[in-house]
Formats: sequence, C-alpha cells, structure tokens
Amino acid sequence: MLGDMDVRTDKNTNRPVALSGDRPTGPLHLGHLVGSLNERVKLQDTHDLTVMIADMQALTVYADNPARIEAAALGLMLDYLSVGLDPDKVRFVQQSGIPALSELFMLYLNLVSVNRLQRNPTIKSELAGQMGGQGASAGFVTHPVSQAADITAFRATAIPVGEDQLPLLEQANEIVARVNALQGRTILPTIRPILSRTPRLLGIDGAAKCGKSQGNGIALIDTPDMVRSKVQSMFTDPQHLKASDPGRIEGNVVIQYLDALDDNAEAMAELKLHYQKGGLGDAVLKKRLVEQIEAVLPPIRRRRAYYMRDLGAVKALLRNGTMEGRMIAQETLTAVRGAFKLAA
Ligand code: TRP
Repeated sequence: MLGDMDVRTDKNTNRPVALSGDRPTGPLHLGHLVGSLNERVKLQDTHDLTVMIADMQALTVYADNPARIEAAALGLMLDYLSVGLDPDKVRFVQQSGIPALSELFMLYLNLVSVNRLQRNPTIKSELAGQMGGQGASAGFVTHPVSQAADITAFRATAIPVGEDQLPLLEQANEIVARVNALQGRTILPTIRPILSRTPRLLGIDGAAKCGKSQGNGIALIDTPDMVRSKVQSMFTDPQHLKASDPGRIEGNVVIQYLDALDDNAEAMAELKLHYQKGGLGDAVLKKRLVEQIEAVLPPIRRRRAYYMRDLGAVKALLRNGTMEGRMIAQETLTAVRGAFKLAA
C-alpha cells in the first residue's frame, strides 16, 4: 500500500523512480538517442527505471492500423536494448497490458477541463492535421491525461523526455496537485522532466523536429549507406555556395547534428567559427558528421543483432516487466480510488 511518502522508492534498491516511454509508431532515431535514450541509460544505474511502450497512446493516432503498432512495439524493444538499456536493471512495460492505467485515465479526465486540453501546445499543434483532415480523435485530444496516468501509476518523479513533452508533464503535475488536494495529503509525487543537452533535434530536412512517423530523422536501424545518403541530403546554409564563403550556423542541420554528437565543446566552437568565417566547405562538414554518426551507431547495431537472435526472449522481457508494472499500478489505483471515495 501507498504510504505518506512523497516518493516511491524501489523496495530492493531504495532508489528514486524514473519513467519514460515512446509511442510505437516507427523506429527511434538520433533525436531520441540524444534527447532521451542516453539519459535513460544513465538513470538505469541510479533510479528504479520503467520504460513504457505506449501502444494505447499510439492508437489515438493509428487506430486504422493496429498491425503497424504491434510491429513497431517489437522494434521499440529492440531499439531500447540496442542503445544499452539493460534488462537486468530496467522494467520494460507495455501500456495496454496494465488495465489500471485506463481506469486512472478515466478518473483523471474529471480533473481536467476541455478548454485546458485544447490549450495544451502539443495538442494544439497537431489538431488540424490528423485523421485525413477530419481533426484529431477524442483519444488524441485527451492523451495528456492518459500520459499522466502512465507516470503517476508508477509514482515516478524523474521523467527523461525531449522538449516536445514538456507541456504534457506540466499538465500531469496539475492532475497530481488535484488528486493530492482531493485526498488532503500527498499520495502522488510531483513530476520533474529530465532534459538532455540536446532536448530537440531538427529533422534532416530542416523541419523543427524529426518525427518517428515523418521519416525525416536518422534512425538507429539505418545502414551506413543510408546514413551517408541522409547526411548528403541534409540542409545546410543555402547561401554557402563555395567553401570560401562565410556560412551560417543558425538553422544549419549539419552543424546542429555535429553539436549534438560531439562532446568536445572546444573543438565544436572552433569548427563553428571557421565555418562562419569561410573556408570550410559543406563536404568536409558532412564527412565529419558521417564519421561521428558511424562512431555512435556500430555498438548499437551489434547489440541489436545480438537480441534479434532470440525475439522470444525479447518478448518475454516485456511480458515479465508488464506483470510487475501491473502490481505497482494497481496499488496506485487503489489509493486514487480512495481519494475519489469510490467502491472499495
Ligand atoms: N508521449 C510520448 C511519446 O510520444 C510517449 C509516452 C507515453 C510517455 N507515456 C509516457 C513519455 C510517459 C514519458 C512518460 O513518445
């Protein structure tokens, strides 16, 4: 049962609780790696970390194609394992395998106004485009509430995410405050986003963000040939025609990717100055970026090949983690139902 403690710590490890997840809509890319996955890999040694495959959330956009979600879910597990999330340290869970999440979601819906949901920037920015121009599904409009259920079910406090998720976490904290007010004491802890050095990565086409479903990122599963051709196609500075011309670094995708991957801040600062002054060609820049990416991806490809040999074992990791998650979420649900004075 939940105590008065404001932070759940894992019984065995006494660690603070972290949770993150992804919608299974397509392969993860470098934006995910530098934005959130690398942070998760760090947290697995200090936190009780749950990583969720949010298949119910994917349904809010892709209900017309459940098979795609199913396939992408297995792909996500492989992405997770290949970036170095260790199945001995991390609890992998599948959202749809934890019914308590749906009940929490339903209860929380009563704590959020329709106006507030429509003002959520994540919702606002996507409302028009979805369902062949028909607008978004009711499931999509309310998914910030479902995400609050995911996080609070585990009493997680540390949420490693990209910048695009911040409005959702803000709204989740509003729900946390309302549940605690109902109960008259803290039963759910406050949520804190964990942002990386690069909380947002541009798409290779210069779009504000690379999306899993748009295919404008460099996927972790891309082959060296694909990496090379994607880097070749990257947007730089359209005014930078000759190597000797001064180049712009703002909005320059190649520069931004180099920045994200190169930990040597001094070398990067020098490179940028050189580019701005003139005398550094795009070909040199792109070659350097291919080298950087090809320094990062090979261990990821190796781990992936290893886990691919036994997909049954990979699926079992998810099943077992989900069972454990069910028990944790059920405890939270019992406490939240209590706050709402529902049938015991
Ligand atoms: N919204 C996240 C995404 O689009 C996925 C997600 C679902 C999530 N539940 C979560 C992220 C809980 C962090 C915490 O990828």
